[in-house]
Amino acid sequence: MIMKPDAILVLDFGSQYCHLIGRRIRELNVYSEIVPYDITPMEINAFDEKLNVKGLVFSGGPSSVYDKDSPRCDPKFFDWGIPILGICYGHQLIAYMLKGTVKPGTKKEYGIAYVNIDKPIDVLEGLGKRERVWMSHGDTVYGLPQGFEPLAHSENTPIAAFRNSERRIYGLQWHPEVVHTEKGRPVIENFIFKVCGCQPNWTMGSFIEKAVEEVGDSIGRSGGIIALSGGVDSSTTAALAAKAIGNKLTAVFVDHGFMREGEPEFVKDIFQKYGMNVIIAHEKNRFLTKLRGITDPEQKRKIIGEEFIRVFEEIARKIGAEYLLQGTIYPDRIESGFRKHSEKIKTHHNVAGLPVNIEFKGIVEPLRDLYKDEVRKVAELLDLPKEIVWRQPFPGPGLAVRIIGEITEEKVRLVKAADKIVAEEIEKSGANHDLWQYFAVLAGVKTTGVKGDSRAYGHTIAVRAVESSEAMTANFAKIPYEILEKISTRITNEISEVTRVVYDITHKPPSTIEWE
Ligand code: XMP
Repeated sequence: MIMKPDAILVLDFGSQYCHLIGRRIRELNVYSEIVPYDITPMEINAFDEKLNVKGLVFSGGPSSVYDKDSPRCDPKFFDWGIPILGICYGHQLIAYMLKGTVKPGTKKEYGIAYVNIDKPIDVLEGLGKRERVWMSHGDTVYGLPQGFEPLAHSENTPIAAFRNSERRIYGLQWHPEVVHTEKGRPVIENFIFKVCGCQPNWTMGSFIEKAVEEVGDSIGRSGGIIALSGGVDSSTTAALAAKAIGNKLTAVFVDHGFMREGEPEFVKDIFQKYGMNVIIAHEKNRFLTKLRGITDPEQKRKIIGEEFIRVFEEIARKIGAEYLLQGTIYPDRIESGFRKHSEKIKTHHNVAGLPVNIEFKGIVEPLRDLYKDEVRKVAELLDLPKEIVWRQPFPGPGLAVRIIGEITEEKVRLVKAADKIVAEEIEKSGANHDLWQYFAVLAGVKTTGVKGDSRAYGHTIAVRAVESSEAMTANFAKIPYEILEKISTRITNEISEVTRVVYDITHKPPSTIEWE
C-alpha cells in the first residue's frame, strides 16, 4: 500500500500567478493542485482517496470584490477547520466575506513595494522589519473581521497581512510566489509546514512508485499500447508503463509524415535497445489525404487527433491491446481548457482533440498532473538517455502546425529542411542548452527576393526560439545575430524556394509558442 501524499489545494480566482503558487509548493516536496474557485467542501472530500488535503490557498485574481459576478468561494470553508491562506484577491475576499472592510485603494500598488512587518510571527516568522515584496492590487483591506489581527502594513496598505490564529485563516496582500518577493519562500514554508502540518512526502521517487501501481491496477491483465512520439512525455510514460506491465506493453509510433528529419529512426533505435515492442506505423499518405484543403489550425488538430486514434485502434485490434496510454501532462490539460473556469487556448491533440467515440476500454495518462520539469526528473530516475530527457518538446501534430495554411507534401519538405538547418546551427553554437524550443515555421506568405541576378518570388521561413520552464509562458530568445545570420544564409542558399527568413520576437503571452 502506497502512502497518500499531503496536499495543498490552490483555489484559482483567475490570477496569472496561480500556477506559480502550485509550483512553489511542489518545490517544497508537498503536492499541490489547482482547483476551480467554486469547489465545495464535499468535492474536496472526494480527494480523500488519493490525497491528504491539509490546507487551501486562495489565489489572486483580476476582479474586485465589488464587481458584479466577482468570484466567491464556498463560505462553508471558513468554518470547516481547514487552514486557509488568501493571497491578494484571496486576502481581500476573506476580509470581505467575513464582514471586514475592503475599499477600492486610493492609489493602486503595482510592482515592487516595501512592507513593514509589525508582528514577525506565525506565517511571517523569520521575516525582517521591512521586506521587499511584489504587489499588484486595486482593492485594499481597511478593517478586519472580528477575531482577526493585523500583522503587516505598507505605505498605501494599512493591513497588508492578517491572521486569525484560532481559525487558522491568513491573508497576504503581496505575492509570496513571485520571485521578486525576497522572502516569499519562508512564508509559504511557514504556512504549509507549521500551520497545515504537511510532511514533505511528494518526491518524484514516490510518484514513480504510485504511478507504476496505478498503471498496473488500471490496465491489469489486459495489454496496452503507448502512443510514443519520442518526446520526453511519451517516452517517460512508456518507461513507467513498461515497469508496470512489462511485455504487455507495445509502443506505437505513428509517422504521420509531419515528423522532423530522422525522427522515426531515432525513436525505433532507442526503444528497441530498451527491449520494448515497437511498431512504426507509416501513414503519411493517409494523413495528407485527410488534411487536403484544411487551413484552420483547430480543424487540423482535430483531424490529426482523430486519425491518430484510428491508427492506434487498428493496431490494438490486431495485437489484442485494450488500453491506450498517453503522455499527457498538466499544462496540456490546462491549455486545452479542462478546468471549468480556464480559457481554452488550443486543443493539444492528445487531450481535447480526441474523438468522442473510441474503441479503447480506457485511456491511461500517468503523467497528467506533472509539469515538464517534473517529468524530466522522473525520466532521469527511470534512466532514460539524456537525448530523450533533454529533447526539445515537439507537438503531437508535428510540422502540420508549423505550416500556415493548407498542408502539401512540398511544404512539408521545405519546413523539414529549414527546421534541420535551424536545429543544426543552434546546436552547433551551444545555444540550445538555454532554450526550451527552436524550430522553423513556413509562414504562409510569399515575398519577393533576388537570387543570382534574377527576381525570385518565394516562401518565407520564420525562425522561432524560446526560453521557458514549463511552456505556460515563454520569452523569445535573444540569439546572437551571428547565429541568426548563419541560419538565414544557409536556409536561403540551400532551399531555393525560400526568399526570406524572419525571426519571431514575440513572448508568450501574447503569442503562443507554436504559430498555430
Ligand atoms: P503553445 O503553442 O500552446 O505550446 O504555446 C505550448 C507547448 O505545447 C506544445 N504544443 C503541443 N503539444 N499537441 C502537443 O502534444 C499539440 O497540439 C500542441 N500544440 C502545442 C508546443 O510545442 C509547446 O511546447
